[in-house]
Amino acid sequence: MESISLEIEEKIENKQAKIGIIGLGYVGLPLAASFLKVGFPVVGVDKDSTKIKMLRDGKSYIGDVKSEDFYPYIKNGKFIVSADYNTLRESDAINICVPTPFTKNKEPDISYILDASKGIAKILTKGHIIILRSTTYPKTTEDVILPILERTGKKVGKDFYLSMAPERIDPGNKRFTTETTPVVVGGITKKCTKLAALLYKQIIKDVHTVSSPAVAEMTKLLENIFRSVNIALVNELAQLAERMGGIDIWEVIRAASTKPFGFMPFYPGPGIGGHCILIDPYYLSWKAREYDFHTSFIELAAEVNENMPYYVVNKLFEILHKEGIVAIKSNILILGVSFKRNVADIRNSPAIKVMEILKDKVKGIYYNDPYVDEINVKGDIYKSVELKEGLKNADCTVITTDHSSYNYEFVVKNSKIIFDTRNATFQINASNIYRLGAS
Ligand SMILES: NC(=O)c1ccc[n+]([C@@H]2O[C@H](COP(=O)([O-])OP(=O)(O)OC[C@H]3O[C@@H](n4cnc5c(N)ncnc54)[C@H](O)[C@@H]3O)[C@@H](O)[C@H]2O)c1
Repeated sequence: MESISLEIEEKIENKQAKIGIIGLGYVGLPLAASFLKVGFPVVGVDKDSTKIKMLRDGKSYIGDVKSEDFYPYIKNGKFIVSADYNTLRESDAINICVPTPFTKNKEPDISYILDASKGIAKILTKGHIIILRSTTYPKTTEDVILPILERTGKKVGKDFYLSMAPERIDPGNKRFTTETTPVVVGGITKKCTKLAALLYKQIIKDVHTVSSPAVAEMTKLLENIFRSVNIALVNELAQLAERMGGIDIWEVIRAASTKPFGFMPFYPGPGIGGHCILIDPYYLSWKAREYDFHTSFIELAAEVNENMPYYVVNKLFEILHKEGIVAIKSNILILGVSFKRNVADIRNSPAIKVMEILKDKVKGIYYNDPYVDEINVKGDIYKSVELKEGLKNADCTVITTDHSSYNYEFVVKNSKIIFDTRNATFQINASNIYRLGAS
């Protein structure tokens, strides 16, 4: 047993270990690129055949990963991509990077983790290092993945090594990449932790080990709940500032940010979206109920944040009324539909939620987004309209996602009225601008 793990350690240190990655999306593809960059051979498995074809053709579908980050390796055989789990048989370490969404009723959907685990069980080989990177509730690794793998008759810490190392990637963030963002690793046994940590040390500067997979799972949830709760706090204060009048929440946040300790700025907006901040807290609140525990902060934050798209629509109607525009006869342009700035990801986007709420309440809604060509709003397909034409045709432009590529002077100049939910126009002084969080 010891000789197997010594052999793996040597392979990792020599960058000869074959890296398996299940799920080549926002997390898996950049991870593959990081391992390829330092010399590891990588096998990527994704059940989406369109993605496999695109990768084989050298086309990237992830903004932060360029063709040159992976295509040379596809051509020279160092990066093998496939929909077939059998290709993972020869790998030494397998990273699970599959989605963890929630159901319609906001309960965890770990079916992708189950599928991946069952797929691994079929090809599990002596010495395999398995690492879960997907965000999930505490004890998933131990209570869900481990039994599936041990049902093969192989024993953790002896025949294979299982750990949890939650992904922290922030798509679109140029400052912190996979390499420069520390990773937290917790294994089922000490050996599991040691091997996973050694593997990540090859591509990530700082590796922080913890005592168990559950600690690693909870760490990731704490990070995202921290964001959700703080965003909810400023969303609530933004509403209060509006009601009190004469207080601009953005000015307040700027002022509070001058405190060099004990404060960290968070910003209001039309709601939260994406694959993480909105969903992850529900994983913990769901699990907590099993222990007769109600996570009040999570529920309260969800209540405030998920009400924001409705709040934005109500405020829009107030603005239209004030400007003498009849809502049902108005045309509204939504500017930016991805869930956050400078990315193409529209999953759970609050901007789309705003469009869904508005859809039957105004004459027309249109959108422009340089990153998103087409969206589905409650069954209808909308295509991004040309910016200048869209601005001119709209009675009101609602800035929902503050992409850096917009020229906001141009936006303001060409709009009749602006409702800015992101404070993207804060340097522009014009009488046709209304802001969320300011009266
Ligand atoms: N996107 C982010 O910014 C981010 C950041 C940190 C953590 N995470 C977490 O990482 C995980 C993955 O998220 P993502 O954004 O990369 O998702 P994604 O949807 O972009 O990618 C997941 C990929 O897995 C594939 N897949 C699904 N089931 C599979 C299976 N059984 N076998 C093989 N492939 C399968 C899908 O086709 C898809 O390509 C989630 O748990 C998420 O919460 C995401």
